Amino acid sequence: MKSILEGHSALKAEVEKIAEVAGYLWQNGWAERNGGNITVNVTDLVDDEIRQLPAISEVKQIGVSLPALKGCYFYCKGTGKRMRDLARWPMDNGSVIRILDDCASYVIIADHPVMPTSELPSHLTVHASLIEKGSPYKATVHTHPIELVAMSHSKKFLGKDVLTKLLWSMIPETKAFCPLGLGIVPYTLPGSNALAEATLKELEDYDVVMWEKHGVFAKGLDVMDAFDQIDVLSKSAKIYINAKAMGFEPDGMSDEQLAEMTLAFSLPK
Ligand code: 13P
Ligand code: ZN
Repeated sequence: MKSILEGHSALKAEVEKIAEVAGYLWQNGWAERNGGNITVNVTDLVDDEIRQLPAISEVKQIGVSLPALKGCYFYCKGTGKRMRDLARWPMDNGSVIRILDDCASYVIIADHPVMPTSELPSHLTVHASLIEKGSPYKATVHTHPIELVAMSHSKKFLGKDVLTKLLWSMIPETKAFCPLGLGIVPYTLPGSNALAEATLKELEDYDVVMWEKHGVFAKGLDVMDAFDQIDVLSKSAKIYINAKAMGFEPDGMSDEQLAEMTLAFSLPK
């Protein structure tokens, strides 16, 4: 059977980038079994030939109505599928969906009827808001980074911007490359509309949010951008934990050093 990627080089390149990042998630130990999910808005990469492709699934409900998504196309990791498999076979472990005109349902159009991730409500709610705002962001990534999730098990890190300040102060690049910091979403049932709503609210102010005792959820220009922001936060968490393991509380960069960085890199305050 012909893959949707054949003859569509821009879409193929995007899916190859998703597969590359899926490999990084697995290699980092952030993607046990089917852990984590990726969705990318590929509407701009879809031509008339793809728009005319018939549905290969029944009509499925999203669970929420999202008018901004009418006629949009998304690549979605499949529910229950493994990142380590997606890295090698992205179109067997994910699929492309078309949002229908009622804006509350979708069909799968390619390559196989692989059901999208159980976190679809969170991903699509965020994509709809990005479109409404005219944002250039096209990708959302959810993953289970070990050190960051471990830190979310202590109340002392869950106050507003407590973790942001701590992680920024571990190494200068973290504020440079994750300038909005890390938002906190209190524990909420995975896959629920309540989690989608809480995620959307927190992503108003941040590019990456922590799902307490579960994982992180990031938005980015593309899948690599979303991954990079999680990666720099995770690096800082590792430095903090390594210092603690050596038996001391790390000093962290001073407020003056952070302020100097903010000015030099023209970062938001
Ligand atoms: P899916 O396999 O449905 O994508 O779920 C993985 C996950 O991490 C849920 O939070
Ligand atoms: Zn998860």
